[in-house]
Amino acid sequence: MKKIKIVGNNKLSGEISVSGAKNSIVALIPAAILTKETVKIYNTPNITDTENLRAIIELLGGKIEFGEGLLKIDSKKIKPVAIPEELSIKLRASYYFMGALLGRFHHVEIYSPGGCKIGSRPINLHLKAFKKMGVTVLKEKNKFILDTDDLHGANIYLDIASVGATINIMLAAALANGMTVIENAAKEPEITNIASLLNNMGARISGAGTEKITIIGVKKLHGAVIETIPDRIEAGTFMMIGALIGNEFTVKNMITQHVDTLISKLRDMGVKFTMTSDSVTFHETREYNPVDIKTLTYPGFPTDLGQPMAVLLTQARGTSKFIETIYESRSGHFPELIKMGADIEFDKMKATITGPTRLVGCEVEATDLRAGAALIIAGLLASGITKISNIEYILRGYEDIVLKLRDVGADIDIIEE
Ligand code: EPU
Repeated sequence: MKKIKIVGNNKLSGEISVSGAKNSIVALIPAAILTKETVKIYNTPNITDTENLRAIIELLGGKIEFGEGLLKIDSKKIKPVAIPEELSIKLRASYYFMGALLGRFHHVEIYSPGGCKIGSRPINLHLKAFKKMGVTVLKEKNKFILDTDDLHGANIYLDIASVGATINIMLAAALANGMTVIENAAKEPEITNIASLLNNMGARISGAGTEKITIIGVKKLHGAVIETIPDRIEAGTFMMIGALIGNEFTVKNMITQHVDTLISKLRDMGVKFTMTSDSVTFHETREYNPVDIKTLTYPGFPTDLGQPMAVLLTQARGTSKFIETIYESRSGHFPELIKMGADIEFDKMKATITGPTRLVGCEVEATDLRAGAALIIAGLLASGITKISNIEYILRGYEDIVLKLRDVGADIDIIEE
């Protein structure tokens, strides 16, 4: 079994660079099939989620070229063949092929998506929106058959500002007849990145990044170029590392505005750092104040940084309260951190973390992607050796994480045991 082994308690210094955003690239790739012409995506991260989407494109008949961060997708020969369960289940974002194939072919056959098990994660809002746009939805066990001979615009109010539903609706609406309005749309920066690609392809989308997005359907889309935005969650993960064990440690190639809420919490904690618009440099911090965290949709504190943040809170002098509001089971990291010495009481979506506690390395298990990130941070901080199993979760979302951390002085390796 592959494990990540960390010998902790080293100060890190130097520069660490942020890759393209996982949650953008996983939608940019499906978006590319809305045209027969070539789409080029710069700053594509080489992570397992990207690999799995490339496999789906190839299964559909598309051609892929990938090297040095540039992904070229040629969808001329794509057909709406059924996407089998063994591919759809490999990641959450396989569901973006619903919107994309509906837009281009008006027909999709696909199985339920996979993704981290952090809650029930229904897709009812996606399906409800498609139905409003004239799509018939048939579900046989885990298989969805979506079909329409009249894909049309609609007024859609999302009960929850869902990232996935907002993007899926934009994908289907770009080539639908007439106008679609999404109210209570998600405002995450990834939404704007996808809308930019679609607009570069000839779509007419306005309001992305606000709670009301308007899409005027067009007849055809063409080839285009886009750059994946920097991953704000990877940046945030590195920032926690910087806050804890950084000494002249710079996180670069990021957009600091995308992590405003984290920056404000780090300030409240007394973390010492200086910043520019695209980098944050951490100086040594010896004492941290406790802070309360409540995860929210963007621009609130991101749920994806809640787990890494828990590690930082174990080092604050006093008690911090933590509330997760998006996913009901995003707590797999807590028992592992407790094993390492953290003082955490948790119940469902709430936790109380008291510090500072000394963390000690041991064998721990990543239960999902961001739990894995939290354990890497904890391992880097802890004394002794930490071995993390289930690292497939981590490699799904963090490009070259081991190499990047070694370059700034971490003693970290992938081992086979
Ligand atoms: N929801 C519904 N019905 C729906 C859609 C969503 O009830 O039809 C609920 C979900 O159950 C969940 C909440 O709404 O409780 C948020 O769901 P959303 O659709 O916003 O999230 P997602 O598209 O499933 C994406 C990211 C997540 C990230 C969230 C929130 C991708 C592939 N995943 O998930 O990323 O946490 O947005 O920002 O883009 C991660 O990177 O670790 C990760 C889990």
